[in-house]
Amino acid sequence: MTNTLKAGVMGDPIGHSLSPRLHRFWLKKHGIDGTYEPFHIKPEDLKEALKSLHKRNIKGVNLTIPHKEAAMGFLDEIDDKARKIGAVNTVIVKEDGRLLGTNTDGDGFYNHLKQSSTFKAEGRAAVVIGAGGAARAVLAALLSAGILKVTLVNRTKSRAENLQKILGDERIKIADWSDRASILKKCDLLVNATSLGMKGQPDLDLDLKFLPSTSIVYDIVYTPLQTKLLKEAKLKGCQTTDGLGMLLHQACGGFRAWFGGTPKVDEELREYMLKALEE
Ligand code: ATR
Repeated sequence: MTNTLKAGVMGDPIGHSLSPRLHRFWLKKHGIDGTYEPFHIKPEDLKEALKSLHKRNIKGVNLTIPHKEAAMGFLDEIDDKARKIGAVNTVIVKEDGRLLGTNTDGDGFYNHLKQSSTFKAEGRAAVVIGAGGAARAVLAALLSAGILKVTLVNRTKSRAENLQKILGDERIKIADWSDRASILKKCDLLVNATSLGMKGQPDLDLDLKFLPSTSIVYDIVYTPLQTKLLKEAKLKGCQTTDGLGMLLHQACGGFRAWFGGTPKVDEELREYMLKALEE
């Protein structure tokens, strides 16, 4: 029997996932005898695919669209992070075959923010744009890091209110979409947690005239790396952070759990992943 450690990513479609390239980079770097494969799994096959991991000697998987929420019904344990975010992006198969679901998106976002800027959460006010899964991960991370206040603003206000209700934290305030420019007056951190600005999508329509130049601006979009939002923020003198780091940092938790070692997000990895984005 071989001792090769096995993991992968399940999605539908799966062809464009960057995770195999990322994990294989670290496997090689750390000299670990391991594999990381893309698994094309249709929603109706997800339950069986997860249940079969243990007998196939697979240590765990990442989950991507459309499985992140649905998988919660098929796992034995869901940790607090995944519960708060309402989705699982990392499954760990325990020694006894039990399946643990966690979510590393919030940590990925926050660890990248810390690595690439001078941001500290305590006493600071953030504005988060969006109310989908990504916004929920960003919110959960900021709240657990000890942020003073987060103003959530979304085109469809009821979705923002719904998130506020689910997370049940009085530090979350809701603003009207029409006020999105003026709420930037007191903003230490601005996060675009929508897909606006991504290749093939319209730009985020946001006037930065009130945004202080001391603010940090984070865009979760990474194709392109420099969105209109980040370019405009840079012109104002703000520190800016692109979304590629979130993708790279969120992968660390799974890698550590399945393969061991201490994966690092550095310039070499960024350059290597950027090559794939440019192809
Ligand atoms: P995800 O789970 O990946 O974050 P999502 O649930 O589809 O994705 O959420 C996309 C986000 O982008 C939402 O906050 C959406 O706003 P609505 O809730 O009003 O739909 C936001 N969004 C998408 N297109 C937009 C547009 N043209 N203007 C403003 N917001 C937009």
